[in-house]
Amino acid sequence: MKSKSAPRIGILTAGGDSPGLNAAIRAVGKAAIGKYGYDVLGFKDGFLGLAQNNYVQLNKATLAGILTVGGTILGTSREKPHKMKIDGEVKDMTAKIVSNYKKLKLKALVCIGGGGTHKNALRLVNAGLNIITLPKTIDNDVALTDATIGFDTALGIAAEALDRLHSTAHSHHRIIVAEIMGHRAGWLTLGAGIGGGADVVLIPEIPYDIDKIVAAIKRRDQKHANFSIVAVAEGALSKQYARAFAEATRRKLKAKTEKQLENAKQELKQLDKQHIGNTWRLAAQLEDKTGLEARVSILGYVQRGGTPSVKDRLLATRLGTECVELIHQGKFGVMVAADGTNVKAVPIKKVAGNLKTVPPDHQWVEAARRVGTCLGD
Ligand code: F6P
Repeated sequence: MKSKSAPRIGILTAGGDSPGLNAAIRAVGKAAIGKYGYDVLGFKDGFLGLAQNNYVQLNKATLAGILTVGGTILGTSREKPHKMKIDGEVKDMTAKIVSNYKKLKLKALVCIGGGGTHKNALRLVNAGLNIITLPKTIDNDVALTDATIGFDTALGIAAEALDRLHSTAHSHHRIIVAEIMGHRAGWLTLGAGIGGGADVVLIPEIPYDIDKIVAAIKRRDQKHANFSIVAVAEGALSKQYARAFAEATRRKLKAKTEKQLENAKQELKQLDKQHIGNTWRLAAQLEDKTGLEARVSILGYVQRGGTPSVKDRLLATRLGTECVELIHQGKFGVMVAADGTNVKAVPIKKVAGNLKTVPPDHQWVEAARRVGTCLGD
């Protein structure tokens, strides 16, 4: 009798890397191979590997010893299926991806990523592929999940940095402005700011007024605390800038002609350009207005590097193993989300294009205010 070949699945990691990606790859791979005897392929560098048929076989040996390792053994990229840079040219590779998927006889493809990955995954769902996603990003901004893989680790790193900045700020009687990642969401800055005891926390969701920050720092000075830690999100905005941004966005949404749309897009691009260096300008303004010396510390990519926290390893293992159960049941087009201590499947089409930002009345915001943290408003 002819033996039936094992079902085959593929995995890829896309977007910015984050701690816990390998733990997720391991979870999917181990459960798929160990429990169901699947054949598992790992595509290299995100959707690019799928378009170029560039993959590695994942097995017990390649999955061993990666639980605690940072980054992703598969590599990652921000390449999009419909706009991919191939040999210096931007091409729509969707058809090629579909054909590679079919040639390899994949039962399903697991895409591990954040906001951009979910939009790309939805494109492939619409092109007919069986896709399941897992939410990962240090930004924690993926909709419909309580947590994303990598956030907890980054939170720990950023909070520890704020702890360390305290002693040097205190010794020199300085303001230290620490810039924290998070793209257009303030979860990382707010969480680290609370956990690391920042005096001022500035997040994109609550535009700031420089004079309010100055007043808070001066109040501390009067109480003989002549140093301050300002945790600022990379996407934090002043009130004036937020107004200009909101107006340009409104113009873009209301544009009736191609020309109006193009103008609004250019305006938004210009505003994005103007935002570069915001943290440095903020520090200079604070130095000017308070008379205290100010220094900037941009935490940058250390927040994404190194060993994942135990909480992230646990989350990756919970989501990754559930993903295999869903594949086995034939449930596709869903993201495996964290739901309290449980997990649930939510449609990718409800996640894609939906950013989870900090609601201004969120309990973390309230908690920060109650301990006297200035939020710049
Ligand atoms: O989405 C994760 C993230 O680290 C954001 O916090 C940051 O804005 C962005 O990626 C940086 O992207 P890149 O790795 O492309 O520089």
